Amino acid sequence: MSIETLQVGFVGGGSGAFFGGVHRKTTYLNREQGILPHCGVFDVDPDKSMEDAKTIGLIGYRTVEEMIAAEKNNLGFVMVATPDGTHLPIVQALLEADIPVVCEKPPEEDLPKTLAMAKVAKAMGVPLTFNWSYTGYPNMRLMAAICSAGLLGTIRRIQGTYVQDWLQLPLEKNPVGSPGQQQAVGRTDFGVSCDAADIGIIHPSSVISLCLPHVSAKRVWGRLSTMVSGRKLDDNMIVVVEIDGPGVAPGADIAFYSSQTMIGKGNHHFLSIAGEQGTVYADIENPEIVKLSLANQPDRVFQCGRGFGDDPVMRNVTDPCGDIMMSPPGHIGTFWDALTYLQRLFAKDVRDWRECGKRRIASQRSLGIREGVFGMQLLQAAVDSTQRGNVWVNCKSVDELLP
Ligand SMILES: NC(=O)c1ccc[n+]([C@@H]2O[C@H](COP(=O)([O-])OP(=O)(O)OC[C@H]3O[C@@H](n4cnc5c(N)ncnc54)[C@H](O)[C@@H]3O)[C@@H](O)[C@H]2O)c1
Repeated sequence: MSIETLQVGFVGGGSGAFFGGVHRKTTYLNREQGILPHCGVFDVDPDKSMEDAKTIGLIGYRTVEEMIAAEKNNLGFVMVATPDGTHLPIVQALLEADIPVVCEKPPEEDLPKTLAMAKVAKAMGVPLTFNWSYTGYPNMRLMAAICSAGLLGTIRRIQGTYVQDWLQLPLEKNPVGSPGQQQAVGRTDFGVSCDAADIGIIHPSSVISLCLPHVSAKRVWGRLSTMVSGRKLDDNMIVVVEIDGPGVAPGADIAFYSSQTMIGKGNHHFLSIAGEQGTVYADIENPEIVKLSLANQPDRVFQCGRGFGDDPVMRNVTDPCGDIMMSPPGHIGTFWDALTYLQRLFAKDVRDWRECGKRRIASQRSLGIREGVFGMQLLQAAVDSTQRGNVWVNCKSVDELLP
């Protein structure tokens, strides 16, 4: 059976940019899934966008409006990888033109803009997802499958650690065009937060949404701090979130711990979820490994892609790894596995939506605006807590916030 081709457009990702190029490469890897790179607005500068398009070998446009006018009926979906603070008008224009969108995380630079995006998404009913990379990792998906099989019991404590060192020096003050300078400016100079928005809250909270979709925040305590002198936004943070929801113990919490100035740490993202019967652990530096500790039993270590043998404990766990991994276990290419997997998942959502006559679909496989609002609610509350002298900030439920 042939699958419908989905032509993909891009916003961002021209020369000198970071993540838009990653998006483009995922479409090359997903070609056999009917996902084809097609066109783009590759830079905010219209002339450079056209130049970049020639080098990349795709159709170029000078602006998003121009691309929509010319390609409205040709595009399966568009991937947006522009700096935080620019997402809302781009996503809005695309959704209003009936074009599904993969937007980079975080949805926007603050909660009010994220809620404005939620309003547009609700009004249009067009598929929208966010590229939370680690939600595509096989070990994070296996962690979610273990949680949903109920192996951990009532949840007591979640730990989300994300540490890096690329902002240990004031990289943003280096000469324009030097390696990483553009990305450092984009993160340290704009919006309400650097570390918490870029990694500290936004990445682990997306995996928590995947593992425990019914968890909500009661109140947030934050301490966002800046280690590099003269830097505008945080590069270091500790945030505590009191949580509740079905299957959550009274007093349970999430402890987020993050820094972008911790020398020796390239990209260390570790998550553990502990319940009254067991704890599950995964980190992205060992992306094929999930460790499960159950009370009074020896620890279990699972390698993604190798199944569970005849372990009776795992009999109700649906193994997600086969759908994700493009190469056998041990042949690690997990970053690409994860990103191409998330793209294929969204392509399925888009195909369902097209098949049902572009009517709103009840639920999508990809995480969407609800999970985006959850993360941004935590981020905004952590910023407010810090600004008000590290006080507890109460939270509404995501349902109350959503339009
Ligand atoms: N999912 C992840 O793991 C991950 C990793 C890195 C970055 N990101 C996210 O990706 C986004 C981009 O980050 P980056 O590091 O690639 O930034 P970047 O500065 O390297 O690239 C941004 C690109 O967007 C273009 N651009 C800016 N405004 C535009 C507009 N209005 N129209 C068209 N093009 C425009 C710029 O010219 C540039 O090409 C951010 O939201 C960031 O948080 C996500």
